[in-house]
Amino acid sequence: MGAFSTLSPPKPCLPHNNNNPRFPNQPTKTPSVNFAPHLPTPSKPNPFSRLALESSSPPNHAPPPLVVVGSANADIYVEIDRLPKEGETISAKNGQTLAGGKGANQAVCGGKLAYPTYFLGQVGEDAHGKLITAALEGGGVFLNHLNSVAGAPTGHAVVMLQSDGQNSIIIVGGANMSCWPENLRREDLEVVQSAGIVLLQREIPDSVNIQVAKAARSAHVPVILDAGGVDAPIPRELLNFIDILSPNETELARLTNMPTETFEQISQAVGKCHELGVKQVLVKLGAKGSILFTQGEEPIRQSIISAPKVIDTTGAGDTFTAAFAVALVEGKTKRECLKFAAAAASLCVQVKGAIPSMPDRISVLNLLETV
Ligand SMILES: Nc1ncnc2c1ncn2[C@@H]1O[C@H](COP(=O)(O)OP(=O)(O)O)[C@@H](O)[C@H]1O
Ligand SMILES: [Mg+2]
Repeated sequence: MGAFSTLSPPKPCLPHNNNNPRFPNQPTKTPSVNFAPHLPTPSKPNPFSRLALESSSPPNHAPPPLVVVGSANADIYVEIDRLPKEGETISAKNGQTLAGGKGANQAVCGGKLAYPTYFLGQVGEDAHGKLITAALEGGGVFLNHLNSVAGAPTGHAVVMLQSDGQNSIIIVGGANMSCWPENLRREDLEVVQSAGIVLLQREIPDSVNIQVAKAARSAHVPVILDAGGVDAPIPRELLNFIDILSPNETELARLTNMPTETFEQISQAVGKCHELGVKQVLVKLGAKGSILFTQGEEPIRQSIISAPKVIDTTGAGDTFTAAFAVALVEGKTKRECLKFAAAAASLCVQVKGAIPSMPDRISVLNLLETV
């Protein structure tokens, strides 16, 4: 090992580079979008396709964007027979590095659904940062608020897929967890305040999420917090500024310390979230579908839209939350939002990977025509 026994210490976090040439600087005005230029005339009234047709409006009438604030990660997959023993070097059967991170996943989902979407996050000045930039760009996400930092590597995870089906994962938080400015930049807060909706998760520091959620609330912008990410209590200061909390069943159980196996148990756990000040809770239940609880109202249940073949459920939760956010900002009813999200997630589970499996709007609309 010798010279390689330790990695060089990270450089100090340098000031953010606002005009990083690696990130093409798209116009800061709300971008124009062409939602569904080749949409077929629907055979029956469909609230989603009506929206899609209306949305080819000129740029100055473009809707307020979806702003996703969160993590961007390079997921390094290695396929191995078994974990190496101490001091041992083994060969992997296969290896692949894919862009991921809950924030980047959700932003790409918004972009692929043809809704104007900004991603606010951090990468390092390294090859993984370029991989993520390319993935976001490929999804049509606006990158003006993707910041690059010199003092930390791009967040990455080594995912060891073992032949017995066990996965062992090591996460390097890198630029997701460090080098955030103490006070977010004015232009970053401005895009949050210009949003139609803001989407957060828990893979960046709570202090950043709190600043974003506060800024959004002060501008009356609704905030959805996807509970996925670190398994730690959510600070009250963050919950106070959240409009919708979206956990899956295990996250809800961990957050409330309550069982979540039956509808009754889930309702009680959600009751605890209401007590903590969150009025709306969107629970994702895997193959059992989803339920939206609004305090003082009847819960709305949405079953899955069954997939002919389930290939890989990675990214289903991110797709569901982001698609729900898109439908909500487009003014759909809560029931319509749930259905739109279920359709997007159903398409997601039919394709391998997270980002590669996120559906475009036309595919979602086509599926909705059939159910
Ligand atoms: N087998 C499946 N078939 C169709 N849709 C699915 C399936 N599994 C999950 N989904 C959809 O994806 C959504 C999110 O998945 P879920 O597992 O609940 O989230 P997470 O990935 O956060 O655990 C579900 O509410 C459902 O709509
Ligand atoms: Mg799940």
